[in-house]
Amino acid sequence: MKIRLQKILAQAGVCSRRKAGQYISEGRVIVDGKTITEKGLKFDPAHNKILFNSKPLSPPEKKIYILLNKPKGYVTTLNDPQNRPIVTSLLTDISYRIYPVGRLDFDTEGALLLTNDGALTQSILHPSKEVNKTYRAVVSGNPGKSRLKLLETGIELEGRKTAPAKLRIISAAGKTTTVEITIHEGRKRQVRKMFSAIGHRVLSLKRIAYGKLKLGSLPPGKYRFLTKKDIKLIF
Ligand code: URA
Repeated sequence: MKIRLQKILAQAGVCSRRKAGQYISEGRVIVDGKTITEKGLKFDPAHNKILFNSKPLSPPEKKIYILLNKPKGYVTTLNDPQNRPIVTSLLTDISYRIYPVGRLDFDTEGALLLTNDGALTQSILHPSKEVNKTYRAVVSGNPGKSRLKLLETGIELEGRKTAPAKLRIISAAGKTTTVEITIHEGRKRQVRKMFSAIGHRVLSLKRIAYGKLKLGSLPPGKYRFLTKKDIKLIF
């Protein structure tokens, strides 16, 4: 199948698609003996002989899927202007270029998927797929059932109503309450903002599941490889 040259380079693990465009313009890519400097041309990696920096491309990268228990105090971006610790630094024995699927705040812990499978990333993040994410939040005070109901039906956040959420009180201990909340949207700091909108501050937040794929007893900072069966649990 013919696909864009940038994509072929990215799939072979050479670089990102954006960077591939630059390398093509620099004349570092040869297809069937001819230097290609035009971006966007399509080729078939199974039939065209493609060289990058005069070396043949390796076969498409094996897809890997990892579930990490992100500790607090790590960013999920791949570089941070403030030089804070980056989640991928926790993946000590992975030689693949993998990316977090979506984000978790610096001060949020818990389940974080990482993969080099762009198609899977897209389908988990695409709003139409409505992939559920479940969080355990410790909030200030006691929101009580009536206020949680507001979050269950949806609440105005930054001019847009949130989709209905599922909520469950786990325990109430004096000045704090532990609540489980399941949402399928992924707005920035959404859970914190939802609770703040009903007058309760989130004191700690942990993502405990994507769909039916649970974090389980994985210790903070540790990760495990996911199987195809695990992936199916997400949707
Ligand atoms: N909601 C938040 O507020 N923070 C996260 O990290 C994830 C969901």
